[in-house]
Amino acid sequence: MISLSRRSVLALGGAMLGGIGAGGRSAVAGTDAPVIRATTRILEIGGRPARVLGLLQPDGTAGMTLEPGMRFRAALTNGLDEPTIIHWHGQIPPVEQDGVGDMPAPMLRPGETRRYDFAADPGTHWMHAHVPDQEMRLLAAPLIVRSAEDLRADRQEVTLLLHDFSFTPLAEHLARLNAAPADPHAGHAGHGAPAGGATAAAAMDLNDIDFDAYLANDRTLSDPQVVRVERGGRVLLRIINGASATVFRIDTGGLSARILAVDGQPVLPIAAQRFALAMGQRADLLVEIPAGGGAFPMLALREGATERTGIVLATAGAEIRRIAPLGEANAAPYASAQEAALRAALPLASRPPQRRFDVALTGTMAPYAWTIDGRAWGRHRPLQARSGERIEIALTNRSGMAHPMHLHGHRFQVVEAGGRRIAGAVRDTVQVPANERLVLALDAGQPGRWMFHCHHMPHLATGMMTEFVVE
Ligand code: C2O
Ligand code: CU
Repeated sequence: MISLSRRSVLALGGAMLGGIGAGGRSAVAGTDAPVIRATTRILEIGGRPARVLGLLQPDGTAGMTLEPGMRFRAALTNGLDEPTIIHWHGQIPPVEQDGVGDMPAPMLRPGETRRYDFAADPGTHWMHAHVPDQEMRLLAAPLIVRSAEDLRADRQEVTLLLHDFSFTPLAEHLARLNAAPADPHAGHAGHGAPAGGATAAAAMDLNDIDFDAYLANDRTLSDPQVVRVERGGRVLLRIINGASATVFRIDTGGLSARILAVDGQPVLPIAAQRFALAMGQRADLLVEIPAGGGAFPMLALREGATERTGIVLATAGAEIRRIAPLGEANAAPYASAQEAALRAALPLASRPPQRRFDVALTGTMAPYAWTIDGRAWGRHRPLQARSGERIEIALTNRSGMAHPMHLHGHRFQVVEAGGRRIAGAVRDTVQVPANERLVLALDAGQPGRWMFHCHHMPHLATGMMTEFVVE
């Protein structure tokens, strides 16, 4: 068990060094595209062997790192005994390569290989199963596209993929949640809850799933990955929240740090020693290592809980101490203030919107059912637009939980948060706090049917998805 778990850890370590390139060693006959295999692997989690999934190149590298200017070219093989489909989260491929299953390309059957080839956009992105239960079983990996700027910059790059893990399958979690008695909290009333109210109830609803472990690059805090860094050096931490249902608060332990990009898109750098990262979101954090050296835990704290995970950045010879458990829950809920403080470095050109949509995020804990405009996937009403049109989408969260909303095939700018008009971040995934409202602007892109959904996997599994149809 141990050796297997070590090996997959090393695999991620390889991706972190950023020099993996296209991994040409593992080419498919007739092409030089690297092979990525969806596969099962064994990890030791909390002293117990866990059978999990992974996206590995044949040399054990998790996911992929591309150098500036490279296209994303890969042969994806389904090595599982169940159908799967992988989404390239943060990339904007032609719709048939977007990886959502049957829209329009079908899932990969066991043993099937499919080729992907599209222009890659720089930034910290990731790849993951578009099947909630598989994503929850760790079928997720980094997809890093370095920029020319990354090559020039004098800094070390470290990728940090966060995840949550449960030995209990998603179906059992859902069955248990559905068996729970009707919830008395007003914040769960969904459709009827007035915006802005129910703050106390909302604070009780940060988490709806219990996990057994929280992972940073496949390891828990009892045996964290230690990354060697230079005294006085700078580290670009590419943080990916790949968790299925956990908002993490990133904590640099007081080390000075600046956010350079979110969801792979540059922002005007802001100082941030603590900030929240919702499921599906990424942040590039530039961390300054003190000249005196030492060991510096980079922690990710579960919102509203005492659990944490993380890695340790350490200079040569530094003593690595055990990280003491947290006595008290990390309560601060994701504040829209954080979103409101971000400014895009490359904002959308300003243009009046040609079409507006009002979208309500809805749902209840009992029954456990999450929806968009009160409708589950299958009964959804698509948002429809023409390619090139400027669109505004107002998202109003009428439920007691936050929802990280992800739009495929597009990037949007957050233009209103906390009731104020802003030139906010350009993103692909935005966290809409309970009972709050955000407005997004975007230009409708390539024609096709693009998914628009909550990135909380149990919410997605109950149908919290619609589509953005571009003609
Ligand atoms: Cu990262 Cu539709 O998902
Ligand atoms: Cu949700």
